[in-house]
Amino acid sequence: MTTEKIFDMLYASNEPISGEVIASTLGITRIAVNKHIQKLRADGVNIESGRKGYMYIKGDSLTECTLASKLASKGINMRVFVREVDSTNTSVKQILSEDSEIGDFVYVAPRQTKGRGRLAREFVSTEGGIYMTLCYRPKAMEVTSSLNIVLLTGLCVAKVLSRYVDNITIKWPNDVFVGDKKICGILLESVLAECMVDRLILGIGVNINNAIPPELSDIATNLCTYVGEQSREDIIVDIVDTLCQSLDIYQKEGFEPFREQYEGLSRTIGREVTVTSLDGKVCGKAVGLSPEGYLLLEKEGKIQKIIVGDVGV
Ligand code: BTN
Repeated sequence: MTTEKIFDMLYASNEPISGEVIASTLGITRIAVNKHIQKLRADGVNIESGRKGYMYIKGDSLTECTLASKLASKGINMRVFVREVDSTNTSVKQILSEDSEIGDFVYVAPRQTKGRGRLAREFVSTEGGIYMTLCYRPKAMEVTSSLNIVLLTGLCVAKVLSRYVDNITIKWPNDVFVGDKKICGILLESVLAECMVDRLILGIGVNINNAIPPELSDIATNLCTYVGEQSREDIIVDIVDTLCQSLDIYQKEGFEPFREQYEGLSRTIGREVTVTSLDGKVCGKAVGLSPEGYLLLEKEGKIQKIIVGDVGV
């Protein structure tokens, strides 16, 4: 706790703070202050020390301590894991299998060695991006809600990224785009209990400061191309905050309060599209969403509901 308190002091200050001031504020010795500073540095927090004291250098660090403290400052007291893993969704499932009673938590990786995408695809996850999974326990949620949660998550990420860059849209169901290039993908998994959703496992991958491999540069982009290097922690905190608030509203009022916002950001609705699903390809005009979140395609005056598939415009 003392380490977090020292980080909070440094994070809130735009000037260096002396070891003496930190020690007297927290009622500890200067030697103890130094030990906590070393611990923060060992965790990857960039703290400079000079004549006037210690100064936190804001940048793109990603540590459990700093992320937990930033979440707590928004009133979100959630356990945080930051580990390099194959897939954060897989790690979350592992944790749940060992402790089925664990509270909501967020699992973040600075990079993934085997990131998983929709339809069993690989999700390239190099250093500098956001690879996170929110494990959330809903209250009495039916399995049929899943598609709406997928849409809601895409909408939350789109809203957060819109604070940084213009021209953000969502390709149904939940790929977030800047212009014509994808910046974020979402993989929803869940744990069921007695035919209800016991846990939502919301996997979110966003290209932030990571380089896009040349073979993907025609179809994928990253945030830093538009607005320079950004703090992944700040964006993660905004996503978790927006998502938790929206899930709360969703559980009371359903998707209706979000439908207009989603349609306003949709790059799919109103366009002639081709949807590839397990049953083959279907073409038509995307005319809207059903209350369950299915895509409504119009062809020759008939409406077809698309439950799952890949949209090509
Ligand atoms: C897609 O675009 O097909 C979905 C990509 C989802 C990627 C995220 S990154 C964090 C989480 N862990 C994974 O292995 N996948 C999701």
